[in-house]
Amino acid sequence: MSIQRLKALQKIMQIPSAETPLTFKDIGNCKVVLKRDDLIHPIVSGNKWRKLQPQLEYAVQNGVAHVVSLGGGYSNHLHALGYCCRELDINCTALIRGDYTQHLTPMLRDLNEWGVKLHYLTKREFAERNTSAFADWVKHTYPDSHMIPEGGSHPLALGGVAEAMQELEQHYDYIILPVASGATMAGIIAASQPTTTIIGIGVLKGEGYLEGLVKRFMDEQNITATNWTILHDYHCGGYARSTPELTAFCRQFSEQNEIDIEPVYSGKTLMALTHLLRNHYFPDGCRILCWHTGGLQGARID
Ligand SMILES: Cc1ncc(COP(=O)(O)O)c(C=O)c1O
Repeated sequence: MSIQRLKALQKIMQIPSAETPLTFKDIGNCKVVLKRDDLIHPIVSGNKWRKLQPQLEYAVQNGVAHVVSLGGGYSNHLHALGYCCRELDINCTALIRGDYTQHLTPMLRDLNEWGVKLHYLTKREFAERNTSAFADWVKHTYPDSHMIPEGGSHPLALGGVAEAMQELEQHYDYIILPVASGATMAGIIAASQPTTTIIGIGVLKGEGYLEGLVKRFMDEQNITATNWTILHDYHCGGYARSTPELTAFCRQFSEQNEIDIEPVYSGKTLMALTHLLRNHYFPDGCRILCWHTGGLQGARID
């Protein structure tokens, strides 16, 4: 029974995740803590579990037998979803941006092993993914399937993220986290106190665009909070792009703290935090929580 399997999966998650103090140079009197969602589970790490859990619950409760979702060849979301579907005995089809038949990425190799059906789309086809014609095509190609949006960014995801906020051991003046589709940030905003400022670090070039995504999720749930902002100076050239500074930062941070980070999400966020601390962005004596949203699988070398 999928319900029992889901309960078993929920049970092995290391939740609540740890809050680990960090030491930085030039930190002043601020206290910085890392929320270790990367340690929730070796495969379904970080915000992926938070976002997927309510959707898996929905799927199991509604007897969904086949899930379809989509993403890139390194997608953390598809990786987590593929693993969960295997554990829950739900068929899974992954619509992939680009054709990797000749050279599977480590992520796609895992999906293959877990019995996920890989369906490659051309970049042009993938670009149509938010249109009604695409939704019709999915329905026609995979009748009776249940669609989970790219990145797991369904409105239900916000509730899973909000649960993580209830675990916090203390009040924080600032919470800082990476932002791409905006669902994780919207979930954090939804559950935060007005005395906490939520700072999103844009991991792609998206000034205005990212705010719009977060706002859309908030509007859908009538969340009117204004205690949030997105910083756009740390995308390092765009999504999954890097700079020598970022590469060096990730290496140095991992060595000094014995905490693995990757350059797409956690690296950009922690590098931004380091810059902000150095530039006295935060008032003296404040408490800052940085959210480690996992994603280390995406950094595996082909
Ligand atoms: C590891 C990781 N961190 C952060 C994010 C950003 O979350 P969101 O898309 O909800 O903004 C993602 C996904 O996009 C991710 O895979």
